[in-house]
Amino acid sequence: MKKATILFCTCACILLFTNCHKKMHTTAKKTPAQEADYAKNSYTDAQREQGRGLFEKTCGNCHDLPVPGAFTISQWDEILPKMFKQSKMSYDDAGLVKAYVVFNAKKP
Ligand code: HEC
Repeated sequence: MKKATILFCTCACILLFTNCHKKMHTTAKKTPAQEADYAKNSYTDAQREQGRGLFEKTCGNCHDLPVPGAFTISQWDEILPKMFKQSKMSYDDAGLVKAYVVFNAKKP
């Protein structure tokens, strides 16, 4: 009985967590316009500034520091997941960096 309760709670937590994760996460394909809105409205100036700090600290380690305005949002969508993996950045840090990059991306 007790075991079943624990099992149930664990499953419920996992479900809840993965669901939130999906909602938050960028893997749910957004259009570039939605990405732009998200970067603008779901993050504060201070958070994007924090993202810039992380970007400058991390993203120039293996190559020259890229310029956010050099690529459009759709191009960054292709590049960033690979580079976040390269940088071994935490999920939250990656979110901040992405907000900064998308906010300053090349306008299509
Ligand atoms: C551990 C090394 C490493 C780190 C850290 C790293 N990169 Fe890269 N990056 C690479 C390599 C290797 C390539 C070339 C191969 C490729 O495109 O996968 C590359 C290529 C790129 C390109 C060119 C892609 C293109 O299609 O022209 C961009 C832009 C870029 N990285 C951005 C970033 C950003 C932004 C970060 C920080 C989040 C970052 N990189 C962190 C190794 C790294």
